[in-house]
Amino acid sequence: MEKREHAIGMMDSGIGGLTVLKAAKALLAEESIVFVGDNARNPYGPKTPEEVIDYSRQIARFLVEKHQVKVLAIACNTATACALPVLQDELNIPVIGVIDSGAKAAVEASRSKKIGLIATEGTVKSGRYQEEIRALSPKAQVFAQAEPDFVQLVEQNRYQTKEAKEAVKEHLAAFDKDGIDTLILGCTHFPLLTPAIQEAVGNRVRLVDAGVATAKDLAKYLKEEDLLSKNSQKVATYQLYTTGPVATFQTIADNWLGDGPFQYKHLPLTTLEEKA
Ligand code: DGL
Repeated sequence: MEKREHAIGMMDSGIGGLTVLKAAKALLAEESIVFVGDNARNPYGPKTPEEVIDYSRQIARFLVEKHQVKVLAIACNTATACALPVLQDELNIPVIGVIDSGAKAAVEASRSKKIGLIATEGTVKSGRYQEEIRALSPKAQVFAQAEPDFVQLVEQNRYQTKEAKEAVKEHLAAFDKDGIDTLILGCTHFPLLTPAIQEAVGNRVRLVDAGVATAKDLAKYLKEEDLLSKNSQKVATYQLYTTGPVATFQTIADNWLGDGPFQYKHLPLTTLEEKA
């Protein structure tokens, strides 16, 4: 099979990366996608960069060796912040992350260049968004806040509850004084909380979904590199692996993704750990 007919690989620490998958599926209807959500080891946000590199490497090897993916999209900001250069160096396929695309989209969207960022502790601490934004717009101010609780609201399927809405409102009140006009959803779990986040910061603030920005860049990249599938007879498939329980993953995924068909599979951690 020609390389361009192989699937796209995607990975996240859990459910969040499905926000990137959903955007990519909408833009690239002919492309098959193999996704791994590492729900059993979620969250990545508080882990050391070494641990996140180790887990990301295991998943990347699984996707390359078992599925021969033609490109890897790291659909996780924390894994992008920690592991992108390592995986780009080690793998023999192109690897793209979510941070460059998110930073670029935020700079384009912001007029005042006062940009808010919500992400995991790992992503905020890495300083990668702050660096990218300042490289594109040296006078930009970035107001960054870690929001680990938001990851749990999504992972535990509590993201549509009243409790979630109240927590989001309370946490994001801190941005009122900063006068931001743009807020980056710098964790791929956060787009599931979009209605609550938009209501909390008000309609004056534009939300930037780093995952959607990445899906657009991925589509552009595949076109430029002549890696788009050319087989119009082929029906795209979506294989979704989780290292955690399939039932919870599938409930959230079906609700978020809409039209399938999606194939759900359990991926034992022992399979990944063999790839260490
Ligand atoms: N979805 C992830 C991100 O984009 C990480 C959430 C977590 O595992 O802490 O950063």
